[in-house]
Amino acid sequence: MDITFQSLPGSDSESVVRFLTSEIWPFHSISAVDRETAQQWIAEGRFESEENRSFWIVADGKAVGLVRLMDLADSTPLFDLRIRSAHRGCGIGVRALLWLTRYLFEEFPEVRRIEGTTRHDNRAMRRVFLRCGYVKEAHYREAWPTTDGTFHDAVGYAILRGDWMAGTVTTPEWNDEPLM
Ligand SMILES: CC(C)(COP(=O)(O)OP(=O)(O)OC[C@H]1O[C@@H](n2cnc3c(N)ncnc32)[C@H](O)[C@@H]1OP(=O)(O)O)[C@@H](O)C(=O)NCCC(=O)NCCS
Repeated sequence: MDITFQSLPGSDSESVVRFLTSEIWPFHSISAVDRETAQQWIAEGRFESEENRSFWIVADGKAVGLVRLMDLADSTPLFDLRIRSAHRGCGIGVRALLWLTRYLFEEFPEVRRIEGTTRHDNRAMRRVFLRCGYVKEAHYREAWPTTDGTFHDAVGYAILRGDWMAGTVTTPEWNDEPLM
């Protein structure tokens, strides 16, 4: 499969609205995005602004997903990744995270680490993190509210520039409680 990443400017905002509203996003806080919400997000600059950039994931000529990079003025940017349901489970998530990781480290020399958070039960995204050299750094219990009033655990992953450059995966020291 031929995959490219195309900068969002140049796309009409209606394409972004259609993309967001035509799919269910089961692991996002808002799983069914309505037109008004999508338009508001665009107007707020969530996709394109000084600190945010977005890219279509184009597979064999078709826009099958969206990469959104956030907090680009920070040394630890964040990202969001959304792939159309018909194209999930085909390896696009892994290729997108490898691409955005390289893009952020190469384009922004001050970036030391890249972080991503997902819901505990988002098995696909957690596999994608591990496949791309990201390491679990945080587990937030009942930190992810949903619209039905339930709370899920959230998990945080990150990759360090040093690990990315060296091709290594280092893990935090978890047994570090001070002894009494
Ligand atoms: C999460 C998401 C980005 C993953 O991308 P993807 O293209 O579907 O994943 P890939 O095909 O690259 O698969 C990566 C791994 O996840 C596994 N996987 C894929 N779908 C899965 C599923 N539904 N359940 C469990 N594992 C799954 C694959 O088997 C693969 O594992 P492996 O390393 O053992 O081979 C994509 O499914 C998606 O957009 N989901 C909806 C939006 C979302 O949840 N975004 C994350 C927000 S942080």
